[in-house]
Amino acid sequence: MDLHLNGKVVLITGGTDGLGAALANRLVEERARVAVCGRDSHRLAVTEQRLRDAGGDALVVQADVTRPADLERFVDAAVTRWGRLDGLVNNAGKSAGGRIDQVSDDDWIADLNLKVLASVRCTRLAVPHLIAAGGGAIVNVLNIGAKAAGAASLPTTASRAAGLAITKAASKDLGGHGIRVNAVLIGLVASGQWQRRADAAGQSEEELYRQMVKNTHIPLGRIGRSEEFADLAAYLLSDRSSYVTGSAVNLDGGTSPVL
Ligand SMILES: NC(=O)c1ccc[n+]([C@@H]2O[C@H](COP(=O)([O-])OP(=O)(O)OC[C@H]3O[C@@H](n4cnc5c(N)ncnc54)[C@H](OP(=O)(O)O)[C@@H]3O)[C@@H](O)[C@H]2O)c1
Repeated sequence: MDLHLNGKVVLITGGTDGLGAALANRLVEERARVAVCGRDSHRLAVTEQRLRDAGGDALVVQADVTRPADLERFVDAAVTRWGRLDGLVNNAGKSAGGRIDQVSDDDWIADLNLKVLASVRCTRLAVPHLIAAGGGAIVNVLNIGAKAAGAASLPTTASRAAGLAITKAASKDLGGHGIRVNAVLIGLVASGQWQRRADAAGQSEEELYRQMVKNTHIPLGRIGRSEEFADLAAYLLSDRSSYVTGSAVNLDGGTSPVL
């Protein structure tokens, strides 16, 4: 199915590894113009090379989403280069799960800053450009814990629940401008963060994923692939989902107990 993303300009926060990187690849295949950000210089350089090799019109910017000035620079760089903006994917983040009696104020603040404030700020920066382009799409990458928090899942599940509320409220605020806002709720999907966790534990990635499948009841019996996330997010960014807004889609092989 042609997603008609040819020439669209899409920003992805955290597009140098894992889900964001898979989406950047997918969008370049669709001939969209893509700007990604991240912090680590090596990952940025590898991403830039990979997207260029794929023939992509891509911009790779070193920016930490927890720093407002970096976010401004990221959005400005894309708009300066291409003169428009059609899509934003608030994706940068990392897993952070602890018990209510064990998570410190500092950890709460850091998580809310990374997952809630950064996406709000980036959305606020992007909206005037999306309006100027006649509309567009925003995809917020969340976690299935947003709807059904498990034990030892804080602060992430609270930050992600805020992300759900923000998605719904923003869809109502921005619908009149032709801007759709949706969320993807991730279960377990193979990505850089798990690869790094496996490396740190001295085990193979496959071994870690086998353990995850054993410890989590996943009806489809496997963890997801980042390309599966990319397909869903690309669809939500495209006009093929033109009547879908204010929705949250689980990408979890059936793991979540709720819709
Ligand atoms: N994979 C899963 O199973 C899973 C499950 C639930 C939710 N999620 C969510 O899905 C999103 C993507 O996760 P992933 O698994 O693909 O992680 P990943 O493989 O670690 O990739 C994360 C990307 O975000 C970037 N990033 C992280 N912190 C950043 C910051 N402060 N500023 C700018 N960029 C930043 C990373 O680059 P640098 O580190 O170089 O900055 C990298 O490009 C996250 O929001 C995560 O919480 C994933």
